[in-house]
Amino acid sequence: MEQVMEGTVNITSAVQGTLLVLTGTLLLILLHRIFRAENWKNQSAVPGPGWWLGLGPVLSYSRFLWMGIGTACNYYNEKYGSIARVWINGEETVILSKSSAVYHVLKSNNYVGRFASTKGLQCIGMFQQGIIFNSNITLWKKVRTYFTKALTGPGLQKSVDVCVSATNKQLDVLQEFTDCSGHVDVLNLLRCIVVDVSNRLFLKIPLSEKDLLIKIHRYFSTWQTALIQPDVFFRLDFVYKKHHLAAKELQDEMEKLVEQKRQAINNTEKLDETDFATELIFAQNHGELCADDVRQCVLEMVIAAPDTLSISLFFMLLLLKQNSAVEEQIVQEIRSQIGERDVQSADLQNLNVLERFIKESLRFHPVVDFIMRRALEDDHIDGYRVAKGTNLILNIGRMHKSEFFKKPNEFNSENFGSSVPSRYFQPFGCGPRACVGKHIAMAMTKAILVTLLSRFTVCPRHGCTVSTIKQTNNLSMQPVEEDPDCLAMRFIPRAQKNISGETTDSQT
Ligand code: HEM
Repeated sequence: MEQVMEGTVNITSAVQGTLLVLTGTLLLILLHRIFRAENWKNQSAVPGPGWWLGLGPVLSYSRFLWMGIGTACNYYNEKYGSIARVWINGEETVILSKSSAVYHVLKSNNYVGRFASTKGLQCIGMFQQGIIFNSNITLWKKVRTYFTKALTGPGLQKSVDVCVSATNKQLDVLQEFTDCSGHVDVLNLLRCIVVDVSNRLFLKIPLSEKDLLIKIHRYFSTWQTALIQPDVFFRLDFVYKKHHLAAKELQDEMEKLVEQKRQAINNTEKLDETDFATELIFAQNHGELCADDVRQCVLEMVIAAPDTLSISLFFMLLLLKQNSAVEEQIVQEIRSQIGERDVQSADLQNLNVLERFIKESLRFHPVVDFIMRRALEDDHIDGYRVAKGTNLILNIGRMHKSEFFKKPNEFNSENFGSSVPSRYFQPFGCGPRACVGKHIAMAMTKAILVTLLSRFTVCPRHGCTVSTIKQTNNLSMQPVEEDPDCLAMRFIPRAQKNISGETTDSQT
């Protein structure tokens, strides 16, 4: 009996031992697998905040809504590196500030879509319409040809004369922008110049720039607010109504202007030359575009420059005052290359000091700090897998300050003394979805600055610099205009004719 018992005990302990060994082996295999999986994950997954049972996505989205898109991108690139993954409205979003990754996206046809809240885009008329946020690729390609035609070739050539004339027109009535202390509302002045230029080039309908600008301003602020809001935002009538009305106000105004244009075309016996609006109206007549497309394209063409160029010019005027030696060199260059006459299209290529200053300004303090895109197919970026439908934000502002440039946080026009490889400097993007106005934007900036600086030197309020003024970086980098007085500047006539008819510099 004892022997039987002993035998049973031996068998039991043998089985237990085997089980122990088996379990241990299984555990080892499992641990090995987990370790390999973790290792693989770490190699392929983009760094970013954790999922934390769904709290991660909520926190990262809240940060975007609270800080503004541009500021939140800088926060995440700072924390997780130049390629970081977050969530916006529950969607995986990769923020890139590494030049090789940014360049890959810009050059590829796989990223010509953009992302944003559908309801937000519907609110401002940009959902599958117009150009800027249109992700209906077939329609976007079609309308982009109209923009390209208007912004290059003869339109580009003409832009210089138009800028000179529009700038002089507003400078001649400077007192209308000047307060009782002698300070000029420079942002409004620049916006009036730019909107007048856009109208003369693309629409050619008499309008009040100041009235239109108020509507553009409200539209822009709705655009900025609505862009990545959750759907619930658009159900809150008391919040949403104000934005809906602001968007509709500009859309209605554009509809009126397009209708006026249609009448003007109908009343003209022979059209010697066409413009952007005329071409779009013809396309509608031929059934290529619908009325809403035409209205939205005209609207976006009219708002594109005031929202970017005027703010850029404002930052440039501040930067000039902070770098008075550069201002002096630019004025010398204008005098030697152009003299007393108006700047012409052919002069632009000779204004090298001015060009270096403009490029460095766009690098150092850009108005468009980031670009929003969406992946149309699966891809790999810098070794990381990016699935179809992933949102991408190209943090170009940060890219310009983290690679290639020596002392990137200091303003120095000599950064562009020799040529800079294009992958390191992309203020307008490049590739199939680049800024379609990049050439005209440079021409307009030069023409307006030369005209303005030939007549005036500006003097911002004491202590007002690009780093001290309050700014937001949501849709783009914008000065906060709650107290426009602190952004105002004195305009001092640069040259006055003295009694004997000689020209003297009255700059103090
Ligand atoms: C300093 C001035 C300007 C800057 C810094 C700027 C910058 C940009 C950038 C970064 C983009 C996005 C490009 C991308 O996704 O890769 C863009 C798009 C665009 N820009 Fe500009 N821009 C400026 C002036 C203008 C002007 C003057 C116009 C037209 C009058 C214009 C028209 C457009 C349009 C229509 C798009 C959308 C293109 C598309 O989605 O196909 N921009 N701009």
